[in-house]
Amino acid sequence: MNITLAPGPIGAAVHGLDLPAIAHDDFTKLRDLVHARGVVAVRGQKLGEAEQVTFARRFGDLQKIFIKDALSTRYPELFFVSNVDENGKPLGSKDAGEFWHTDGAYLPSPHSVSMLYAVEVPHGPDGTALGDTRFAGMAAAYDALPPATRELIDGLRGVHSLYHRYTIKPAKPGSMATQSADFPPVSHPLAIRHPVTGRRCLYLSEGYTTQVEGLPQDEGQQLLAMLNQHVLKPEFGYRHAWAEGDLVLWDNRATLHHATFDYTPSQRRVMRRATVGGGPLG
Ligand code: SIN
Repeated sequence: MNITLAPGPIGAAVHGLDLPAIAHDDFTKLRDLVHARGVVAVRGQKLGEAEQVTFARRFGDLQKIFIKDALSTRYPELFFVSNVDENGKPLGSKDAGEFWHTDGAYLPSPHSVSMLYAVEVPHGPDGTALGDTRFAGMAAAYDALPPATRELIDGLRGVHSLYHRYTIKPAKPGSMATQSADFPPVSHPLAIRHPVTGRRCLYLSEGYTTQVEGLPQDEGQQLLAMLNQHVLKPEFGYRHAWAEGDLVLWDNRATLHHATFDYTPSQRRVMRRATVGGGPLG
């Protein structure tokens, strides 16, 4: 197992693993690396749906995402993200990752780890991979805040809503937004204590965080706007350029992510995600 760290605080690439046959010690090392680096790309995998589910289950219980039409028919724990239509229907969610977000923030117990597998990756005419995924490191972002801001937010909670991101964009063909039904808003600390690493991590996003509990509306919006801008500073980030066969694992309690839509409908992108459940955040 060869590990290459990205230059910033998050991101790592791993070569030399065959995930369906991974040994116990290597699995433990990989899981620790996900927590230490927030995002880990395991390159060169050949994962069918069954293999992806079996491997992902080693991290915990898998979640069924609410967008039923985007789930695998054989393994509903797998969620497709794709711009492809099959038999006149979208193969998966066409707009997942359109806004910065972390998976499951709209739930009382948000998702812990997500694992996205690249089945087909679009390429430009010069062979460059398109459709990168960008990540923001929320522990480094928290650490870089001025002490007075840390003190201010340490006792505050953000409100998160699934519907927030769907109201800030126009409905468009292929969007599965209308299938989101009844998820009441939830609140989580604006700065959580990561349940595994113990590090403080900012926990908010452009996509889901609607307001700050207990603050006047305009003050809350100002704070959210400042923090949303702060977390996207390049020094906290990592950008993943995909190759087919990559399995990218990310820690939802320590990172945000965002997809890049720089490819056309004829440039096929097919990804499948397994998502692990988590507990309440403190
Ligand atoms: C996601 O938000 O889960 C998908 C990210 C991507 O497609 O790059």
